[in-house]
Amino acid sequence: MVASIIDGKRLGAEIEEELKSSVSLMASSSRAPHLVVVIVGEDPASHVYVRNKERACKRIGIRSTRYDLPEDSDHGDLISLIRKLNDDREVDGILVQSPLPSNFDEIGITEMIRPDKDVDGFHPINLGRIVTGRTDGMLPCTPSGIMRMLESTGESLRGKKALVIGRSRIVGMPAALLLTQRGIDATVTIAHSRSEDLESLCRDSDILIAAVGKPGMVRKEWVKEGAMVIDVGINRVEIEGRSRLVGDVEEGASEYAKWITPVPGGVGPMTISMLMTNTVRAAESRLH
Ligand code: GUN
Repeated sequence: MVASIIDGKRLGAEIEEELKSSVSLMASSSRAPHLVVVIVGEDPASHVYVRNKERACKRIGIRSTRYDLPEDSDHGDLISLIRKLNDDREVDGILVQSPLPSNFDEIGITEMIRPDKDVDGFHPINLGRIVTGRTDGMLPCTPSGIMRMLESTGESLRGKKALVIGRSRIVGMPAALLLTQRGIDATVTIAHSRSEDLESLCRDSDILIAAVGKPGMVRKEWVKEGAMVIDVGINRVEIEGRSRLVGDVEEGASEYAKWITPVPGGVGPMTISMLMTNTVRAAESRLH
């Protein structure tokens, strides 16, 4: 079997087109949605991600403002900024780029952002809503992008065995919750660094979500014939002296899978489209 590609770039562009018309309506009747991105320090990968988010805002017509705090800022500076943004009626969405420098309490910072401005969907109130079966709030961007990609295949997920590798609060845990929700109805296993016999778990799974950040850690022959594979990994590696981006799933898995996401051009662009969707939603609920 040679897998069909789930093209995150194309799907993301379709979502952006829809958002553009909502944004232009809002801009003409009141004001454009406004996203504020806060970045602390000089982590090069984070700066690339933030630039991509700003570019997406520009394409869609969302206003974006960026706050660059120096690496040696203190916790109090960031807290005061978040308080100010929480109270600012002209701000719809607040995103603090992760990872923060090690002297910051990242979870504590996440909890300070007003849940209705938490466009990342990381606040415990937004994550907790998913547990109660409500998926109409701020959903974390990568997991909701994963769901949109799976749904785009037209395949039913009902009763299928899904394996989520990775238990992060940003991807693995919420993705597992979304897969089990009523109406989607997958049967979910969460694997992590202490799981035994990952190979057997993979070989038994109809849906495989790899979110560990280790290049090629899922071997291609572990992929079940006909499986759907979502590769969340974006790992920079040197191959024959050239720098390349590769996923968590070994190249060649498309010989086994029925559907697979590319790296790059899969989950990455969808994460950004879901962030844009959350920002527009946040603005709509504020302006209505
Ligand atoms: N760092 C890597 N991915 C993300 C994300 O989705 N949101 C934020 N805030 N930081 C990140």
